[in-house]
Amino acid sequence: MGFPKNFMWGGATAANQCEGAWNADGKGMTVSDACTAGTVSTPRYTTYLTKDGVPGKAGMFDTLPEGAHRAVLDGYYYPYHEGIDFYHRYKEDIALFAEMGFKIFRMSIAWTRIFPNGIEEEPNQAGLDFYRNVFEELKKYNIEPLVTIFHYDLPAYLEEELGGWSNRELIGHFERYARVLFKEYNGLVKYWLTFNEINSPILLRNYLPNYSNAKVGQALQVLHNQFVASARAVRAAHEINPEMMVGSMLAGICSYPLTCNPSDVLATQKRVQDDFYYCCDTMARGEYPYFAQRLWDEYDVKLTTEPQDFVDLKEGKVDMITFSFYSTGCVTVDENAEKAKGNFTSGAKNPYLQYSEWGWSIDGQGLRYFLNELYGRYQLPLMVVENGLGAVDVLEEDGSIHDPYRIAYTKEHVLAMKDAIADGVNLIAYTYWGCIDLVSASTGEMKKRYGFIYVDRNNDGSGTMKRYKKDSFYWYQKLIASNGEDLD
Ligand code: BG6
Repeated sequence: MGFPKNFMWGGATAANQCEGAWNADGKGMTVSDACTAGTVSTPRYTTYLTKDGVPGKAGMFDTLPEGAHRAVLDGYYYPYHEGIDFYHRYKEDIALFAEMGFKIFRMSIAWTRIFPNGIEEEPNQAGLDFYRNVFEELKKYNIEPLVTIFHYDLPAYLEEELGGWSNRELIGHFERYARVLFKEYNGLVKYWLTFNEINSPILLRNYLPNYSNAKVGQALQVLHNQFVASARAVRAAHEINPEMMVGSMLAGICSYPLTCNPSDVLATQKRVQDDFYYCCDTMARGEYPYFAQRLWDEYDVKLTTEPQDFVDLKEGKVDMITFSFYSTGCVTVDENAEKAKGNFTSGAKNPYLQYSEWGWSIDGQGLRYFLNELYGRYQLPLMVVENGLGAVDVLEEDGSIHDPYRIAYTKEHVLAMKDAIADGVNLIAYTYWGCIDLVSASTGEMKKRYGFIYVDRNNDGSGTMKRYKKDSFYWYQKLIASNGEDLD
């Protein structure tokens, strides 16, 4: 049994990592516009001016000093400012996606192109026009857009003046923004995702050292507000056009017990509940799962809610489950077990897996396992909306790029999806992450390349921005043309 005839093959990007044009045509400042470049071993920073005008920098996940505003400072490099210039080159890029045979293209909308500070009553026409042009260009090639409404680029105003997602006021601003998009692009966009990797606030506790209980409590409040905002958006989409399909999008945290020690197994069950199902259950079932109280008690959290929130959650259940999947992690109670690096999947090192140069495990079978787990639990259509290998590529003199490692990685995951479909899973789409090289979210590098298309742009901002086809470009083209059969 192969992939269904109408399976949607494609690729994925996010606005801040590829568009550039960070302050063009009325766009407002986002929190990511003040993010500097880092590497695998040096962190990215957020730069700011204190209320007295003194320049400073803070870790990407740290809180700025009271009254400080994000600012672009001399002496720092901000890779998102130009990204890969998709803003001006989208026609050329979409033509390349079409040449590969894409059926679907995942992208995000920058909130600040539509509402520069997030609070305006009227949207910015230039921003609306830009995305309309992109969608029309996709339509020319029969590529279905899959649009993330919010992908890690909150308007800086909402963060600094309103306190970010801890403040319930953002629910209304998000709903207004989402409604504008659904109305404006009704007929052009059918598939929507509300929040990218919505579970990331809770995942930070595994990832950042000294993450206090109070911070986890705040993350759970942020999540409550985001669940309600997402549910209201889902309901609005269905009111505007019942054909629209709106999905949750989560970081696909798949964890195994490191050993068959029952303590490891129990710790893993708890980890998966807290990392993933807490969010996914709430969005798919319209209510918090049975173990939510246990989690709130553990961190001594008393959520601020309103009775209407629970009605909204019920009325705004998602139509499909989507997730990113890069690697898997292991959980153990043994504090001396060797640790892995990795995205949010960190944890103990799996002796059966290979690891990428950035320390992420490579685990195709994990994808089959995870797809089965999710379909068994929800029986909703699934999409893998991010999966890919970040690696160093070499542009040869003749313009070719030989990336057998990327082909091998993708092949392994395609086979896993095929097996999951044979298992009976209703998987409807696959959008490979970073189908064109773009700025890495965690490190701010260009060097960590995911693309089937190479972009001549380097970590220090040098390069012509010219696009080149990698070997994987031709491989993916054949794969799509054969609907997942030709894997060589
Ligand atoms: C996901 C994000 O976590 O991982 C993307 O949704 C990100 O925005 C992707 O780019 C890969 O991570 P990185 O750090 O390698 O860019």
